[in-house]
Amino acid sequence: MMASKKRIGILTGGGDCPGLNAVIRAVGKTVMHEHGATLIGIEDGFEGLVEGRMRELGNRDVSGILNLGGTILGTSNKGDPWHYPVEVATGTVEIQDASYKALRNFKQAGLDALVAVGGDGTMHIADKLVDLGLQVVGVPKTIDNDLAATDLTFGFDTAVSVVSEALDRLHTTASSHHRVMVVEVMGRYAGWIALHGGVAGGADVILIPELPFSWEAICHKVNERATHGKRFSLVCVAEGARLPDGHEVIQALDNKRTDAKQFGGIGAEVAREIDARTGLETRVTVLGHLQRGGSPTAFDRVLATRLGVHAAQCACRGPYGVMAALQNNVIVSVPIKDTIARLRTVPPGHQLVEAARALGTSFGDES
Ligand code: F6P
Repeated sequence: MMASKKRIGILTGGGDCPGLNAVIRAVGKTVMHEHGATLIGIEDGFEGLVEGRMRELGNRDVSGILNLGGTILGTSNKGDPWHYPVEVATGTVEIQDASYKALRNFKQAGLDALVAVGGDGTMHIADKLVDLGLQVVGVPKTIDNDLAATDLTFGFDTAVSVVSEALDRLHTTASSHHRVMVVEVMGRYAGWIALHGGVAGGADVILIPELPFSWEAICHKVNERATHGKRFSLVCVAEGARLPDGHEVIQALDNKRTDAKQFGGIGAEVAREIDARTGLETRVTVLGHLQRGGSPTAFDRVLATRLGVHAAQCACRGPYGVMAALQNNVIVSVPIKDTIARLRTVPPGHQLVEAARALGTSFGDES
């Protein structure tokens, strides 16, 4: 008797990022061509699993999407089955446990395994599904690059390129007008985007959540440059950096998300303070979702492809409960539990931090 075709589900969860479609393509082609299995695309992340929104994907669906930004499947960061927002009769939104629906739909769709492409939040959910006995394989995605157990996540390189290009552009206008330009970048609790983007774009000051800063140190750097004839400065600040009093700057709280915080606004605070303390004209640019949109860099396309192929192999023949990861430039399988044990933040003595300091970059923490 012929064995029936395996059915592999795939979803993209959390915030989108460049390279998601490259993963879908790699998983799809490997699953269909190498393993003769069927690929089921689940719409809008775990929301689609809870609501049973899924469709079979064919070769045509996964072709021609390598360079396409976003995700052809859609995504959501409000679809955690254990923290599911439901509108109740009164018109208010209640958070409910809808995990039984996700489980039911997984079984009804006849899925043998699920490839979950996402960041920290997605891996937490994937881990719970594994505990319920489902065969899940993770693929690490996030521009924040904050997932443990992998050296890199795809999407990060593209975001860093956007920051670097923005700093290049701001450099010329800052220098013409003798201004301080503050650029606010994403990254949540990790300073990787600010650190790499700032170094690539030659920022004079880089502020990250991992290194507490003082107004005095920042203004000292800016004033010092001015006295050396450089009457302009570039400041790259991570959205999650804390003010000197220890506070994060939060734009809004959204209870429908597992992590309710919507960061935003620290750039304006930093600009206001520099302007007031130095008398130098200061402007702020918030890069926001520009860092997540558009086509992935060549590096991210290659990384996404390597991770996708590996995840597809695992989904078709095991091991399960693992995430494809990059370690020492080799793609390996790591237990999903290892990736969610902690966030990967910038170690204060990181080699790139030290290299930047050697060039005279300030992290706002000098005494
Ligand atoms: O995790 C990726 C990320 O872009 C963070 O850097 C940022 O804080 C967050 O998502 C923004 O989320 P949203 O798209 O929901 O505003």
